[in-house]
Amino acid sequence: MVNARLTIDPHFTVGKVNRRLFGSFVEHLGRCVYDGIYEPGHSTADADGFREDVIALVKELGVSAIRYPGGNFVSGFRWEDSVGPVADRPRRLDLAWHSTETNEVGLHEFSNWLGKVDSELMLAINLGTRGTLEALDILEYSNIASGTALSDQRVANGQRDAFGVKMWCLGNEMDGPWQLGHRSADDYGKIASQTAKAMRQIDPTLELVACGSSSAHMPTFGEWERVVLTHTYDDVDYISCHAYYEEKNGDLGSFLASAVDMDHFIETVVATADHVKAVLGSSKTINISFDEWNVWYLDRYHQVDKIEGVDNWPVAPRLLEDSYSVADAVVFGNLLISLLRHADRVTSASLAQLVNVIAPIMTEPDGPAWRQTTFFPFAVTSRLATGEALSVKLETDSYETAGYGVVPLIDAVATHDRETGLTSVFLVNRSQTDAATVTIDTAALGGVAVLEALTLADDDVYAKNVLGDTERVGLAANDSVVVGEGTLTVTLPPVSWTALSLR
Ligand code: AHR
Repeated sequence: MVNARLTIDPHFTVGKVNRRLFGSFVEHLGRCVYDGIYEPGHSTADADGFREDVIALVKELGVSAIRYPGGNFVSGFRWEDSVGPVADRPRRLDLAWHSTETNEVGLHEFSNWLGKVDSELMLAINLGTRGTLEALDILEYSNIASGTALSDQRVANGQRDAFGVKMWCLGNEMDGPWQLGHRSADDYGKIASQTAKAMRQIDPTLELVACGSSSAHMPTFGEWERVVLTHTYDDVDYISCHAYYEEKNGDLGSFLASAVDMDHFIETVVATADHVKAVLGSSKTINISFDEWNVWYLDRYHQVDKIEGVDNWPVAPRLLEDSYSVADAVVFGNLLISLLRHADRVTSASLAQLVNVIAPIMTEPDGPAWRQTTFFPFAVTSRLATGEALSVKLETDSYETAGYGVVPLIDAVATHDRETGLTSVFLVNRSQTDAATVTIDTAALGGVAVLEALTLADDDVYAKNVLGDTERVGLAANDSVVVGEGTLTVTLPPVSWTALSLR
C-alpha cells in the first residue's frame, strides 16, 4: 500500500484557471474534419452536414477555444481556397499528410460549427510558405466589419458579421525540419515579429502566439525560444509549447511519469521567457499557449500510417487513429494536472486533437461516435477545475524510472472557486502494483462535504473503448472516501486517475 498526505489551503493560489486551458485542436488531417465532425450522409447530420452525435460529445467534453486549421497542414494552406461557393473551391495537395484537401469545409463552415459547440475560434496562419501580406488578408477578411475588398467578400460569401477572431498562431512548429518552410530561429523570429506588428496595425488587441519548440527534445530547444522571443518579445503575448507522450519499449513506469517531463518543459520555457524579459528590461510577461499536447503513438504513424506515392493522395484517409488505454488516460489526466499546476503561466492550451485523429472522440462513417478513455479526465477536469489553481503540499513515496529518475508515486493538484465555494482535487496513482491511501488535510477549507468522487481505473490497464465495445471503460464512483475532522481519506487503485469535488 502506498501512503500519501496532501495539504490543501485555499490561500495558496497559483493563478486563475483560464477557460482557454480546456481548448482543443481541429486540423485538416485524416478524418478529423471529413468523416469526423462533418459527414453529410450520416443519419445524425444536421442541415449543414455536421454530425449531431459528435456535436453532443464535443459539448459534453467541455472544450473552450479550438485551434484551426493546422498543424503541419497550415504551412501549405491557402486560406482563399476555403471560402466562397463550395463548388468553386479547388482540390489541393496537402503535402503535410500526403492527402487531397477538398476544401468542402472551410472558414465559414468551421465557424458555423463552432457556434454549435459553443467554442471560440483560434486561427493559425501560414508562415511556412506564405507571409505577412497573406496574414493581413485573412485578418481583414475575418475581422473587419465591411467596406473593404476582403471584408465585403466575406459578407458576399454569406457572413455579415465579422468572425472577430482574437487568438492567432503565427505559424506552426517552424523549428521542425518536417515543416513546409521550416526556418532558423533568427529567420522565424524576424518574420513573426514583422507579421505581428503588421497585424497589430489592424487591431492592437489581438492575442498573438509565437511558435516555440515542437518538443522539449528538439536539438534547438531553449535556444529557439530565446532567439524567437528576443525578436518578438514586444509583439506577441504567448510562446507555444507542444508535447506528445507514448509508452516506449514496454516501459510503463516512465510513461506514467510523463507529467514530470511536462512540468520541466513548462518551467524551462518560463525561465527562458523571463530571461529575455530581464535582458530586454521589459515589464511585460509572456505566457504559454500549450497548443498541442496529448498521448500520441508517433512511431505507429511512421511505420504503419504514413502515405506515400506520387499518384496516391487520398481524401480523408485513416491517419493517427490511436486507440487509448486506461494507462494512456491516466497519463493524460496527469498532463492536465501539470497544466493546472502552472495556471499562472499556462493560460491557453489545446488538446491535440478533437475527433478521430489522436482524439478523445472517435467516429465510424455511417456508424457510431464514442468516447475514448481520454475523454473522461478531460470532461471532468474541464467541468470541475474552476476558480484558482492551488499550490498543494504533497508528501508521497516515490519510485525509480529509466526516463526521469526518482519520481513521486502520487501526483495531485487542487482548484478552489471562491464564487461557488467549491474545491476540486485531481489525483493520479502511478503505482502499477499498489493502491494508495491519500490523507487530505482539509482543515483550511473548514468542514467539507464530498459532492463527487470519480475514478478511472481497470484491472486491465490496457483496456480501451473500441468500435464494437465502445463502453468497455468508463468512470466509476469512488466510494472509499471517508470524511473526518479536518481530513479526508481516499483510496486510489493502481494506475488510476481520480477527481474529487468538495463543498
Ligand atoms: O497534431 C498532429 C501534428 O503534430 C500537427 O500537425 C503538428 O503541428 C504536430 O507535429
